[in-house]
Amino acid sequence: MKKIRVAIIGCGSISDIYMSNIQSGKFSILELAACSDLFPAAMEKQAAKYGCKAMTTEEICADPSIDMVINLTIPAAHYPVIKQCLEAGKHVFSEKMIAVELWQGKELVELANEKGLYLGVAPDTFLGASVQTAKYIVEQGLIGKPISCRASISRNYGIYGEFLPHLCKRGGGIGFDMGGYYLTALAAILGPVKAVSAFTAINDPDRINTRVALDREGNMLYGREYKLEDANVITATMQYESGVLGTLHMNSDCILDETYGLEIYGTDGILYMGNPNEFGNPVYIKKTMSDKVEFPLTHGYAENSRGVGAAEMAWAITNGRKNRASKEMAFHVFELMHSIMTSAETGKMVQLESSFETPAALPAGYMGDGGWTRTEESALA
Ligand SMILES: NC(=O)c1ccc[n+]([C@@H]2O[C@H](COP(=O)([O-])OP(=O)(O)OC[C@H]3O[C@@H](n4cnc5c(N)ncnc54)[C@H](O)[C@@H]3O)[C@@H](O)[C@H]2O)c1
Repeated sequence: MKKIRVAIIGCGSISDIYMSNIQSGKFSILELAACSDLFPAAMEKQAAKYGCKAMTTEEICADPSIDMVINLTIPAAHYPVIKQCLEAGKHVFSEKMIAVELWQGKELVELANEKGLYLGVAPDTFLGASVQTAKYIVEQGLIGKPISCRASISRNYGIYGEFLPHLCKRGGGIGFDMGGYYLTALAAILGPVKAVSAFTAINDPDRINTRVALDREGNMLYGREYKLEDANVITATMQYESGVLGTLHMNSDCILDETYGLEIYGTDGILYMGNPNEFGNPVYIKKTMSDKVEFPLTHGYAENSRGVGAAEMAWAITNGRKNRASKEMAFHVFELMHSIMTSAETGKMVQLESSFETPAALPAGYMGDGGWTRTEESALA
């Protein structure tokens, strides 16, 4: 088997787990060739830590031995970085969302199609044990016919946003940042959304940084003024193409402890999904007149497996099939969040234009502990 040689662009907070998962051999299909960052100290540090080459994006694009780029830059850089790499003939797997503006996402999907290149987009948590178990439960008919769903999350971005400023900028607020996990987990099970209507608010948009720390350039963060550019309170109702009706509630101006809820209600039971930002969160079912019971996880990748979407895409490239964390599903979820914003701005219901093929479930039974004799990676092949 020929490995797919990857370069990581963006050596910030999330890069450690991607790089350590690849370097540890968790995804044997991937070989870490290089890493890059606009901030040279960040790329030198990660290159030394994970034993790969520090290169500029231009050098990566010009290197014919590199097959795929994993884009871990901030949302505002997703569009230019993905575009540059596709134009250079590289397959790209990008962190969420695909871009900031809708037209940018559209252009990237078209560019990848024109070039015949793979473009995959996070979140890839839906390939983990928790969401795949939920998908298995629905596909086995254990809750009957799904007819409604509910997704809810509260977090405190006042705290996260003070050290990850991209969360305060357009395209980085809770809808685009966390919305991706909830809406992708539902999309991977329930398929595309047909129409949406919403209300949003930016509670207290003018902020002052309270963090007594220096930024990477050595400047004090404390007392710096900043503005929230995206909604921090979102409520929406969604109609899925299948007829399922759903509600979404998001609040990033709440307490620090994250609270989440993600449920699918069927004619024969209620499925309580795990936190979709994690890989192996427990999944529960409640049936008529019975207690809520934990359902054993049916799939591998229960631990932090960031990068599994890139590995699955590498297997898809190798075997000439479509990848599951597809650009079409990612674009649809992106359009859905934009439609939520448009509905709130216009006071009108918005019909979605895009659709996608619901990704096939991973084969069940390939557990991380090797208990079923085959490796969990064999489920990706
Ligand atoms: N931090 C998390 O816990 C987390 C979790 C899951 C997903 N993500 C996603 O990962 C992405 C990165 O997030 P992060 O938290 O690591 O951000 P970060 O700010 O910590 O790191 C981003 C890095 O990208 C670099 N960068 C920016 N523009 C660039 C460009 N044009 N070329 C090369 N490098 C560039 C920055 O210098 C920085 O080092 C985002 O899309 C985010 O939504 C983050």
